[in-house]
Amino acid sequence: MTLPVFKKHSVPVVLAPMAGISDTVFRRICAEHGCDFTYTEMVSAKGLFYGGKKTRELIRVSDAERPAAVQLFGSEPGIVSDMIKAIADEYSGEIAMIDINMGCPMPKITGNGEGSALMRDVNKAARLMEAAVKASPLPVSCKFRKGWDEAHVNAVEFARAMEQSGAAMMTVHGRTREQLYQGQADREIIAEVVSAVSVPVFGNGDVFSGESALNMLEKTGCAGLMVARGAQGNPFIFDEIRAALEGAPYSPPSEYDRMSEAIRHARLFLEEKDPKLFPELRKHMSWYTKGMRGSTELRRAVNAVRSPEGLMKLLYRFRDTLEPENGENPAEGCGEE
Ligand SMILES: Cc1cc2nc3c(=O)[nH]c(=O)nc-3n(C[C@H](O)[C@H](O)[C@H](O)COP(=O)(O)O)c2cc1C
Repeated sequence: MTLPVFKKHSVPVVLAPMAGISDTVFRRICAEHGCDFTYTEMVSAKGLFYGGKKTRELIRVSDAERPAAVQLFGSEPGIVSDMIKAIADEYSGEIAMIDINMGCPMPKITGNGEGSALMRDVNKAARLMEAAVKASPLPVSCKFRKGWDEAHVNAVEFARAMEQSGAAMMTVHGRTREQLYQGQADREIIAEVVSAVSVPVFGNGDVFSGESALNMLEKTGCAGLMVARGAQGNPFIFDEIRAALEGAPYSPPSEYDRMSEAIRHARLFLEEKDPKLFPELRKHMSWYTKGMRGSTELRRAVNAVRSPEGLMKLLYRFRDTLEPENGENPAEGCGEE
């Protein structure tokens, strides 16, 4: 089974699956900033099986964000493999890989034996992976954590079982399920997984800059890097990491440019998704503007706004208060484009 072509780089940098965040619009924006590969938000295999329209919407992948993987979560080999076949049939040529979520810590997921609960039952996870690989015309990967808790750190054993079951690659987030996001992601455990298997292993956890990307690479020897929170409101991180990997200079965007990207994000969202969903943009806008003067007031206004048009007006007005690089503000006083 061949791996998806990671565009063009020897060390691919990918956008992590993030439920409620890495939708088609955000994936496209990150791809435009040089991210090599994108993952959909996690999609319930059972939800697909029972035909949920909202669930199906999550696997819509546009040209601009390819290559892309669909991430599924589930624990029943029959349902997961049937859904893989259905996805591969319906989206043939559009999707490069299927990823199975084996790291989600949320109780409503683990309570069903899904996500990181699979790390507590390596045989069950292996049977799931075997069934998925057997059913799939596409490569199948998985994403998991260091272990369930400090007393059960089994990422190495788990990785070996996944490789034996046919996983084409894997991503390790260097924290236990119990840790959620506390403490530091453990690069050591990722390095151990890299040494234990021969399929590509991607390192994940706390990559927030070019420097931390280099550190992840150096400490783990991973084949590629996965970025989640570092991309929130900051798709520029992919430009920054690429520059760091290539030893090229990088100048961070000005506040004006960040705000212009926020506006573009909001516009694309309103064009491509149901405008009634505009409240989903609130968190993105708050991340883009973090640390900017007046951002607290903007956040308050954005949270109170009642229409997509009102939201766009607020964003343009806020950008008018920022200085563009060249000192001239082309949109000064316009309020809207
Ligand atoms: C809001 C949010 C949603 C997430 N959703 C998913 C998901 O759907 N599937 C998944 O495998 N991981 C999910 N994760 C975990 C991330 O993919 C990643 O493993 C984790 O955030 C560590 O990487 P980071 O330090 O770069 O953020 C999510 C993380 C966040 C913050």
